[in-house]
Amino acid sequence: MPQHTFVLNGESVTVDVEDDVRILWVLRDLLGVTGPKYGCGINVCKACTSHINGKAFNPCSVPVSALADDDEVTTIEGLPDTVGANLHPMQEAWLDRDVAQCGYCQPGQIMAAVALVRKVRDEGRAISEADLDTIRNICRCGTYTRIRQAIKQGAESM
Ligand code: FES
Ligand code: FES
Repeated sequence: MPQHTFVLNGESVTVDVEDDVRILWVLRDLLGVTGPKYGCGINVCKACTSHINGKAFNPCSVPVSALADDDEVTTIEGLPDTVGANLHPMQEAWLDRDVAQCGYCQPGQIMAAVALVRKVRDEGRAISEADLDTIRNICRCGTYTRIRQAIKQGAESM
């Protein structure tokens, strides 16, 4: 079986798995990293949203063979380490706003939020309502209003 190496939450990992297996299954089934959730498996619901090299991506739609040895995949489990704290400021804002209901979509929501704030900041702007409208992560519990409030609050301390 082919071997694939990449950086996961700051540590190099190597897995024996076929080239076409999607990264979500490598994370969840082979590496036991279950923060990225399985919703649709076809890049629609965004429950699996994680980061690759700091940008949002959906690991259910990318084969493991697409990863290079030095590609950095970050999941919700590794997010606090990116700021050297127990919780990322976006997670703090989430708790402060009591965003989650069932919680299933929330890791993906937080990872999408952090990537969006970084992108907007790189463009030299503050986050706007129009930026928030671009988030496509589905929440079956309908926590969208609190998500938007938390993103704005989290962005202030990022
Ligand atoms: S499980 Fe990845 S987008 Fe739905
Ligand atoms: S909190 Fe239940 S799906 Fe979003």
